[in-house]
Amino acid sequence: MNIIEVKNYEEMSVKAAEIISGQIKEKPDSILGLATGSTPVGTYKKLVEMYQAGNLDFSKVRTVNLDEYRGLPKESDQSYYYFMQENLFKHVNLPKDASFLPDGTNPDAAEECKRYEHLVADMGYADLQLLGIGRNGHIGFNEPADVFKAETHCVRLTQSTIDANKRFFASEDDVPREAYTMGVGTIMKAKKILIIASGGDKAWAVKNSFYGPITPRVPASILQLHPNVTVIADKDAMSEW
Ligand code: GLP
Repeated sequence: MNIIEVKNYEEMSVKAAEIISGQIKEKPDSILGLATGSTPVGTYKKLVEMYQAGNLDFSKVRTVNLDEYRGLPKESDQSYYYFMQENLFKHVNLPKDASFLPDGTNPDAAEECKRYEHLVADMGYADLQLLGIGRNGHIGFNEPADVFKAETHCVRLTQSTIDANKRFFASEDDVPREAYTMGVGTIMKAKKILIIASGGDKAWAVKNSFYGPITPRVPASILQLHPNVTVIADKDAMSEW
């Protein structure tokens, strides 16, 4: 595991964007695994700047996102579909049919999870998977649990995640209680993993994920078993290390 400590959010974003753009330059038809949340917003901004400066070409790239809230239509400004359009897709030359997320509007959870898992498997899994991390160590929406769930599944969000994510919604009641998420097995099949963390509220998760026992109680701890992981964390996120 390669751990890079940086000064702050800005530096984290620059470094992460450099790694992602390096991946695209090395393999123009890369499958990028993408994440949502406030942490990757700066990284996406830097990638858009690189594209606008003529230094990056997404025309052969395909993307798979980690997760989506169950029940939110694509047009909802809280859906992860909408987030990805706003923060990255509509600003770069990624072909319209080259980005994939779980379909939050499919009410049949078993069918949707099976469909998405097969889709990602058929693509050969991500060449590079970008991850944020939840305060409780969740990745995607793989919440702390008794067992690691391998494949794409429907999850009930924990109160800690609802509390953390309610800032994006009008009220706590509007936060969906369920989501479709890649499993830890789907994530672990990515060839490379890049995980980014910023801020003191991630310090517990960073310490327990990368410097503690591997346990489904801290889902990101499974990444210790992956052969190619880079963690970029700022000073505050490393403060409990
Ligand atoms: C959500 C997403 C995760 C993300 C996490 C942290 O729960 N499903 O993929 O890593 O939030 O979000 P933030 O970056 O806003 O702290």
